[in-house]
Amino acid sequence: MFAKRTNWNMTPNRLSEALAAHRAAGKPLLDLTVSNPTECGFKYDSAAILDALRNPAALSYEPNPRGLESARRAVAGYYADREEHVSVEDIFLTTSTSEAYSYVFRMLCDPGDEVLIPSPSYPLFDFLADIQDVRLVRYPLLYDHGWQIDFHALEQAITPRTRGVIVVHPNNPTGHFAKQAEMAKLNSICSAREMAIIADEVFLDFSLDGTRRASFAANRGAPTFTLSGLSKISGLPQMKAAWLIAGGPQPWKREALARLEVIADTYLSVNTPVQLAIPKFLEQRHAFQEQLMSRVRRNLAELDRLLAPQKVCSRLAVEGGWCAVLRVLAIRSDEEVVLELLRSKGVYIHPGHFYDFPSEGYLIVSLITRGEDFARGMANALILFR
Ligand SMILES: Cc1ncc(COP(=O)(O)O)c(C=O)c1O
Repeated sequence: MFAKRTNWNMTPNRLSEALAAHRAAGKPLLDLTVSNPTECGFKYDSAAILDALRNPAALSYEPNPRGLESARRAVAGYYADREEHVSVEDIFLTTSTSEAYSYVFRMLCDPGDEVLIPSPSYPLFDFLADIQDVRLVRYPLLYDHGWQIDFHALEQAITPRTRGVIVVHPNNPTGHFAKQAEMAKLNSICSAREMAIIADEVFLDFSLDGTRRASFAANRGAPTFTLSGLSKISGLPQMKAAWLIAGGPQPWKREALARLEVIADTYLSVNTPVQLAIPKFLEQRHAFQEQLMSRVRRNLAELDRLLAPQKVCSRLAVEGGWCAVLRVLAIRSDEEVVLELLRSKGVYIHPGHFYDFPSEGYLIVSLITRGEDFARGMANALILFR
């Protein structure tokens, strides 16, 4: 009686079973996969956050498919602070970037149409696409002292059913930003074939060297959807506040905005108290990002210090985001390495296949892990890799 699109394999995998057993046994765990910023010991201005949710204006309902103008002005202000112009009329508020993806997929794709996604990338895409009847086709990212898009493979992956290309900027977990030349190439590929760029910029502000990277939000060279939100930018995933920006050449943009308006008007999904609080939540980003980046830089420095005297494990170059990719000898499967690490050392890290790495020998660690846990976990892991 269920739709085939929900025929997922729901049996727990070996790793999640082992992790659940480890936790159930009450054994100590050094979790180097943490991604929930509210559980990583960052200091939030609790009073300001809670006060922002007590706005008396929340007692009245003024439905607007794009979301309250005051919130959209704050989002446009976020881009203005980065010296990029985004019109409030091009912004739609959503409850998450995942929801924003669903609007975009629904608008661009008939069942079975295709969207290109980078590989490696984060694992939620498969479910988002299944739910919307979209077929994902991978294009590889190549590593050679740094990551880059394999444009040859990307172009080969395009079929008459391809509707868009997802770019995660910077990518999770590789941490690489799309460069100006890559943005220009994406524009020329997408504008020539009536495809959209779908730019996921949830980690845009987290640049390791502190330089500001250009957003796709002000891109005019091809139909573009830019997705971001407060779950990463302000470290407030629990507030369920994100946005989608439509940009690109006219008359495409006018048509896209009209269609998005109908989709958004059908759900009107973001609640009023949160919309009213978005300006204050966005202000919180400065203090949050400062703490987060100093943790990421410290953990990365500790990682490099631990890696320096040995040769069995190295890390790939990282430009931004919250993760580091480790390279280890591929004499066993990544899953076996991770399982043994959990059993023998109580350290949990992600195997590369979790993020769709094409071969064995890659492990992913979260750089937002508390410093002490990170240092102990990595030191233990390196003993095992020897
Ligand atoms: C690249 C990327 N996009 C989107 C999300 C999800 O963001 P949201 O909480 O807004 O749905 C994540 C979460 O980890 C992510 O890594």
